[in-house]
Parts: sequence; structure tokens; C-alpha cells
Amino acid sequence: MEPVVRTERLTKDYGAVLALDALTLDIGPGTTGLVGANGAGKSTFLKILLGLVPATGGRAEVLGHDVATEGAQVRAAVGYLPEHDCLPPDVSASDFVVHLGMMSGLPRVAARERAAEVLRHVGLAEERYRPMGGYSTGMKQKAKLAQALVHDPRLVLLDEPTNGLDPAARDEMLGLVRRIGHDFGIAVIVTSHLLGELERVSDHVVVLDGGTLLRASRTDEFLDATGALLVEVLGDDAQTRMADALAAAGVPVVRRGSLLSVDAADRGPRDVRDVVRDTAAELGLGLVRMQADHRHLEDVFADPSDAAVHDEPGVPRG
Ligand SMILES: Nc1ncnc2c1ncn2[C@@H]1O[C@H](COP(=O)(O)OP(=O)(O)OP(=O)(O)O)[C@@H](O)[C@H]1O
Ligand SMILES: [Mg+2]
Repeated sequence: MEPVVRTERLTKDYGAVLALDALTLDIGPGTTGLVGANGAGKSTFLKILLGLVPATGGRAEVLGHDVATEGAQVRAAVGYLPEHDCLPPDVSASDFVVHLGMMSGLPRVAARERAAEVLRHVGLAEERYRPMGGYSTGMKQKAKLAQALVHDPRLVLLDEPTNGLDPAARDEMLGLVRRIGHDFGIAVIVTSHLLGELERVSDHVVVLDGGTLLRASRTDEFLDATGALLVEVLGDDAQTRMADALAAAGVPVVRRGSLLSVDAADRGPRDVRDVVRDTAAELGLGLVRMQADHRHLEDVFADPSDAAVHDEPGVPRG
């Protein structure tokens, strides 16, 4: 499949800081999580893809367009959720999204219809006529997401969409991100410094460190590497009963706060996921969470043998 993003030795030297260091990477369709610590180069990478910041070396193509010479074509086909607050406080989300839709070339009536649609989709139906200055962080992030979608992009670049959100708002935003990719077939690149939340929504994960590629692989291969699942069950005495039943089934389990960390190393992820699911069902417990057990990037790379760059880039070329 054609990559949606292809970079070759892409470099950004800000002078004092080398933000991207000869980064060669292909990103395919589907949802790709771009993870890295503060300063890893995530935002710089997205801004270069949009043609907002020029690279100082190498090249990048988005949807077959060279970002250095065809920025307008790129931006017509790409939606962007910037990391920082960029919303005019006195303007309503409705007016804002309609305006950006028209700037992207939609006629006024079509822009109105489309804006109402995307605002409903992100869950801002009621509040969309209020000035955005009075919005909570969660509502602001939703308004930023709506404007990224208004012109029917083929690719959206979401820079830390969960930044500043409480757990409930974070889950809601991750649900929206997942639906953009899975239900609408739009390619998504989403950044975070938390690998744990990206692997819930991403088909592929790319790890940047100091402007270089640390690792790119399918999300489920990260699970293979760490070999543990984080499980949360609800019900009477749920964690203890679940832990006992899993141990009885021969699956090693350790408690982690109110959660269970289930060893998935020897069986392959499918198998252990099935065991967890069946065990919860047999005990009559609600299974509310099952995800790879490494919430922070540091956990993933705690074992140095794990930190090798993966053999192939995120998606095979060609
Ligand atoms: N306009 C700029 N001028 C100079 N240095 C910059 C500029 N923008 C970014 N940098 C530097 O480049 C490096 C990468 O920054 P970037 O914002 O791309 O990282 P990031 O991965 O998005 O980080 P964060 O998680 O904090 O958002 C950092 O060291 C940053 O200080
Ligand atoms: Mg950033």
C-alpha cells in the first residue's frame, strides 16, 4: 500500500537544537501513534509535514506531495490539531469551524452543514454557539478536532489531543481518535508522550528519541516485546478472584494497585487475551480494561535489549 507519509533523511536544525536528525520513515494508512518524550521532535515532525516549518535537510512526502514545494496540496488534504491553544476566545465553535471550512474552499452553505456535522460528531452539539473562551480544556480539544475534520481530509495530524484532559475526557478523546481511523477510514497520525494511550488507538507505533527513530512497529509487536497485559475487572472482590482464577489457569499475575498485570510472554498475546476474557466471563466480572502493561515510555525501554530499532520501518515500502 502507498505510504501516506514518506521521509528520507529528514532533518531540522534549529541552530541550538537538532530537532530531527536524518529521519527516514514510512507511515502507512490506518492510525499511527507517534510517541516520544518532551523535545523528541514530534511537533516539529508534524509541522514539517504540513509545510509550516521548513526542513533543513532531507525530504518529506505527504500523500504523494513534496511538502517543500506542494504545501498547498498537502494542507488541502490534511487536517491538523495543533498542540497549543489556538482558539479565538470570543468566537463560537460553530463560527470558527464554519470559517475554517470556507477557508478550505467549501461554499458557505456546505461549510455550515459540514461544521454542524463534525461538531455533533465530536460531541459539541449543545455548546457550539457559545464563545470558546468559556470552554473547558476538553471542549477546546473537541473544537480543535472538529476544525481538523471539517474539510474531509484524507489524513489528520493530531498533536497531543489528550493533553490536559482528565481521565474521562481522555477516554472520550481516544474514542473519537479511534473512530476517525476505524469508522471513517481517514489516516491518522497522533502524538503523545504516553505509549499506553496510543496503543489503544494505533495500528502502528513510531517512537522518536532526540530526533531519531528509536523504533517503529505494529502495535501488537510492542505487546510481544513487553509481554504483559494490564487488566481491570469490576465486581465483588474482583481483583482477588480474577487473580486466583488466572493463577489457577496457569497464567502468572501480579497486582498493580487496583489493577492486575498479567504475564503474556509465553503464550502470545491472542491466547492470553482469550484466557482473560473467558475467565472474567466465567466469574461474572466486568472486564473494563485490557491493554499492554507499560504506561510510560521508560517502562518499555527499561530493558536495554528492547531498545533496538526494529528491523523494518513502520510499514513496508511499496
Ligand atoms: N522554533 C524553535 N526554535 C528553536 N528550537 C525549537 C523550536 N521548536 C522546537 N525547538 C526544539 O526542538 C526540539 C524538538 O521540539 P518539538 O516541539 O518538536 O518536540 P516534541 O516532541 O513535540 O515535544 P513536546 O512533547 O514537549 O511537545 C526541542 O528541543 C525544542 O526545544
Ligand atoms: Mg510537541
